[in-house]
Amino acid sequence: MTKTTLCHESTIFLSSASPSVLVYVLRGLRVILPALALSVPIGAAHADRTETRTAITDEALAETEHVCSACHGTEGQSVSPLFPHLAGQQKEYLTNQLKGFRDHSRADRPAHTYMWGMAAHLSNEAIDQLAGWYAALPPVTGKPEAVPEIEAGKKIFTEGVAATNVPACGTCHGESAEGMGEIPRLAGQHRSYLETQLTAFASRDRDNPIMHETAEGLTPEQIASVAAYLAAR
Ligand code: HEC
Ligand code: HEC
Repeated sequence: MTKTTLCHESTIFLSSASPSVLVYVLRGLRVILPALALSVPIGAAHADRTETRTAITDEALAETEHVCSACHGTEGQSVSPLFPHLAGQQKEYLTNQLKGFRDHSRADRPAHTYMWGMAAHLSNEAIDQLAGWYAALPPVTGKPEAVPEIEAGKKIFTEGVAATNVPACGTCHGESAEGMGEIPRLAGQHRSYLETQLTAFASRDRDNPIMHETAEGLTPEQIASVAAYLAAR
């Protein structure tokens, strides 16, 4: 995993990439550093898991994933709401985010604090494998809760907010909030994580033109409602 495979990767990306992905790739043309030098041993259970899920074939990468699991949970289902679930997330989205952490274009404070260092030494190849591995895991299904905001949140998700030009979230994120390609799954994600991201998009701490326009038209109460609705899905 320390080898550089830039030409190979560029070919893949160039043939299927959208312009934003191309920008990532071009920005990413840099010396690929050796893989994270991690000395965490792979436990027996972990070894079993990587045997049955063949996506991570590289032993060093399996060790890296073991480190990721300290925050993102085993099988990509995190226990703490500080850390997003990765299981069942869209592969292309995960790839973009890891590259965004690596090139610092995703620059909200928790990204900086937790993920810049984590992604700094990941090669494109490692990113591709980690993203593929997490994308193939079964996603968390939210617990339907009877919180009062849910109905209001559902309305925002399916209809948007006409008064402030907020489009219906479902038109991009999918009717069941399962996401597609560069657009992330939102269903079952931790509520407070979703709220933090929407707030960061609104303030441009997390920079994304599409989500900036969408989130800036939402009040904090509307952000809380739509996040509650999505977390419960
Ligand atoms: C010390 C805790 C910690 C570790 C270890 C960690 N992460 Fe993260 N990760 C976070 C936090 C916190 C966030 C949320 C960042 C934010 O709010 O912008 C995050 C976000 C992410 C995201 C974005 C998810 C989304 O929905 O946008 C991806 C992808 C990710 N991490 C992958 C990884 C991978 C792969 C590893 C291992 C190489 C890893 N993380 C290790 C804490 C961690
Ligand atoms: C025009 C398409 C579009 C619409 C409409 C849209 N989104 Fe998004 N959303 C995106 C894209 C693309 C991203 C990925 C941004 C990135 O790569 O940083 C995203 C990212 C997100 C994230 C970050 C998820 C994570 O794991 O970090 C949240 C939360 C989110 N959107 C919520 C919403 C909500 C709530 C609405 C409706 C109020 C909405 N979106 C409407 C396209 C859209």
